[in-house]
Amino acid sequence: MNENLKTKLKVYRGAGGEEARYDQFEVPHEEGASVLDALVWIRENKDASLAFRYSCVSANACKECMVLVDGKVNYACTARLNTGDVTVEPLAKKSLIRDLVTDIVPPKERLGSLGGK
Ligand code: FES
Repeated sequence: MNENLKTKLKVYRGAGGEEARYDQFEVPHEEGASVLDALVWIRENKDASLAFRYSCVSANACKECMVLVDGKVNYACTARLNTGDVTVEPLAKKSLIRDLVTDIVPPKERLGSLGGK
């Protein structure tokens, strides 16, 4: 990572039903790095307990990395960091599991709904 570029990430923390808090992290990064790159860096270097989800990494195919970036729905893997502060939160209209992970499985795809009802 380039130590010259740094972004402050304010990240939502907490599980569903708990009182939420925000943790702040200063993340060194290279030009063109994504919000997902920053989250991975935080988990590897600052807080291994940070929960977020991703799968395809920048292919924009899995849609598992969707979060709110500065209040707007975005893919963490394609949202680019700049040198300003960035707030990352879970999707507002989905039920929260923990930190940035929400229940994104459509109701009809849940195993419990295979009974045909
Ligand atoms: S990680 Fe798959 S769309 Fe972002």
